[in-house]
Amino acid sequence: MAAKWWLAAAILISLCATSTGRELKVKIKHKGHLPVYNHTLARVLAEYASAVYWSDTTQLFTWTCERCNDLTEGFEMIELIIDVQRCLQAFVGVAKDLNAIIIAFRGTQETSIQNWVADLYWKQLDIDYPGMDNAMVHHGFYTAYHNTTLRPGILSAVERAKELYGDIKIMSTGHSMGGAMAAFCALDLTVNIGEKDVQVVTFGQPRIGNAAFASYYSEFVPRTIRVTHEHDIVPHLPPYYYYFPQKTYHHFPTEVWLYNIAFGSLVFMIEKVCDSSGEDPTCSRSVSGNSILDHLVYYGIQMGNEEGVSCRIILDPRVAAYRTMDIDGNFVLARNLSSTILRRSSEVKGQVDSM
Ligand SMILES: *[C@@H]1O[C@H](CO)[C@@H](O)[C@H](O)[C@H]1NC(C)=O
Ligand SMILES: *[C@@H]1O[C@H](CO)[C@@H](O)[C@H](O)[C@H]1NC(C)=O
Ligand SMILES: *[C@@H]1O[C@H](CO)[C@@H](O)[C@H](O)[C@H]1NC(C)=O
Repeated sequence: MAAKWWLAAAILISLCATSTGRELKVKIKHKGHLPVYNHTLARVLAEYASAVYWSDTTQLFTWTCERCNDLTEGFEMIELIIDVQRCLQAFVGVAKDLNAIIIAFRGTQETSIQNWVADLYWKQLDIDYPGMDNAMVHHGFYTAYHNTTLRPGILSAVERAKELYGDIKIMSTGHSMGGAMAAFCALDLTVNIGEKDVQVVTFGQPRIGNAAFASYYSEFVPRTIRVTHEHDIVPHLPPYYYYFPQKTYHHFPTEVWLYNIAFGSLVFMIEKVCDSSGEDPTCSRSVSGNSILDHLVYYGIQMGNEEGVSCRIILDPRVAAYRTMDIDGNFVLARNLSSTILRRSSEVKGQVDSM
């Protein structure tokens, strides 16, 4: 009798264990397209994620900056949003070659990236993501997109772009903290605005929420690629605690891990498409995250701000005509994409070029 009771208890316990185990897993229900990793597209978006760091607002707005060429040539800027108080920057425009609206977010502009990274260890999951049971995120990451001038600026620019170009694709990108904002933006566009099939590619992005959040996120924005590079420290943060799945941060899928392998003097760059868990132990988690240098270069493209520049805003009086400013000094540069204004802005471009 005692043995039987014991057996029943053991079965009950194991049932509970499996059912909680199941709850904790990231459920992936791909309603739309599966994320397909496209190297070419990822490289193009990496160039946009690099360009958005540019501090000379005039060069960025007229798409004449040093990083505003190569694969992003011909980009039509629609709106550049600068949150001066919090040192945030994002733009919205149209890449005709991709037939897509591009939204790009700048990462953190701390004087010391070391300090910013050190802070990431201690970020708490401290607010509930609205409308999603048990989904928690970090307040600072969430508010950088949701509670600043970025969100209204981006939503209105996307709307205007769609009025002008019709129902084209939407792609959201960013590096580091900018990747976190790109993900929140894509989720917002999907859940609150009703956009479909928003594509996301982020580079060296930190974790932003718990497993429940990752599960909702991947259900709503399945076409997401999260690129990580070698020993880049940032994707390892805030930490993932394997033994506390309910309490810990958890990445959403799909990671693509870039790393090198060497055979003698030959070095090959591998691009590993990881599993759908978000926390594939055979990808960047298989190595220690101990490099800031690996954080600052993706596909050989320099990420982060220009040397020695930290949250400086350079604005030429000639683009001031495109500016609207709020009482806190945050501003938006917006182009009126009618033919006359386009001509005016290419004149501005010409003048800047000849400077
Ligand atoms: C990858 O993306 C590029 C740029 O959008 C596109 O031209 C190409 O056809 C894509 N490749 C595949 C296999 O989808
Ligand atoms: C957003 O900002 C306002 C004003 O700065 C503040 O009162 C509010 O608590 C913030 N909301 C969140 C979620 O942080
Ligand atoms: C944009 O330009 C067109 C044509 O020049 C003009 O009719 C329209 O009022 C302008 N819109 C804004 C918001 O300035």
